[in-house]
Amino acid sequence: MSRQQIVAGNWKLNGSKALINAFNEHFTHTDIPNVSIMLFVPALYAEAVDKSAFCVGVQNISEHSSGAHTGELSVAMLNDLGIKYTLVGHSERRQMYGDSNAVVAKKVSVALDADITPILCVGESLETRDAGQVNEFIQAQLDSVIELVGIAGLSRCVVAYEPIWAIGTGHTATPEQAQAVHAFIRQYIASKDAMSAQQISILYGGSVNAQTASDLFAQPDIDGGLVGGASLQQADFLTICQAANQRG
Ligand code: 13P
Repeated sequence: MSRQQIVAGNWKLNGSKALINAFNEHFTHTDIPNVSIMLFVPALYAEAVDKSAFCVGVQNISEHSSGAHTGELSVAMLNDLGIKYTLVGHSERRQMYGDSNAVVAKKVSVALDADITPILCVGESLETRDAGQVNEFIQAQLDSVIELVGIAGLSRCVVAYEPIWAIGTGHTATPEQAQAVHAFIRQYIASKDAMSAQQISILYGGSVNAQTASDLFAQPDIDGGLVGGASLQQADFLTICQAANQRG
């Protein structure tokens, strides 16, 4: 994927068929030509999303291809259903479900092998920020992926910077805080390969809402957002998409 404006909604463990139908109706006739609008709904609902209005993805995949892994989803199954996107390494998966840097790297690798675009999530805790270790921490998260798939593999991902302290807290990072980390990510990628740095899309996530989106998306290295809570409200999500459209 080349660099573009993306607004992705991560519904987490929320939503219903009725809400998806409402989103389908609300977004089908909207004119947002400059933005790829993605919805990461619970996997059961992926089929119900209108693919003419949204790019649909899942929130997690297995690093295994098949076999005795109860409750998991494989990339082959995504391909079977025409689903081309997955989140990988969301901090909730890293913190609650044991997705270590090594597991995250493996998931990125199996997704890329199956031509599925991973949205690779990275981001630091408040302790790490307070200790002044943000760049080192993000770099280690990126390095574990680069070690497995190379910079060429990373450049086929979308990166989402989601500081953990901003997720679901209402404490959005300031545009300057977010831009500083986005610039670091792009520069770090540029130190490996300049072309990859120009082509990769880097999204910000963490309490993005209808009020904060425009100022965040106006930053030079922010290419859109990964939105949790506000992506469950049609009107707010549309406003956020329109904010990205103006930039795009
Ligand atoms: P909130 O927008 O609810 O803070 O969630 C962000 C997030 O985790 C998106 O993946």
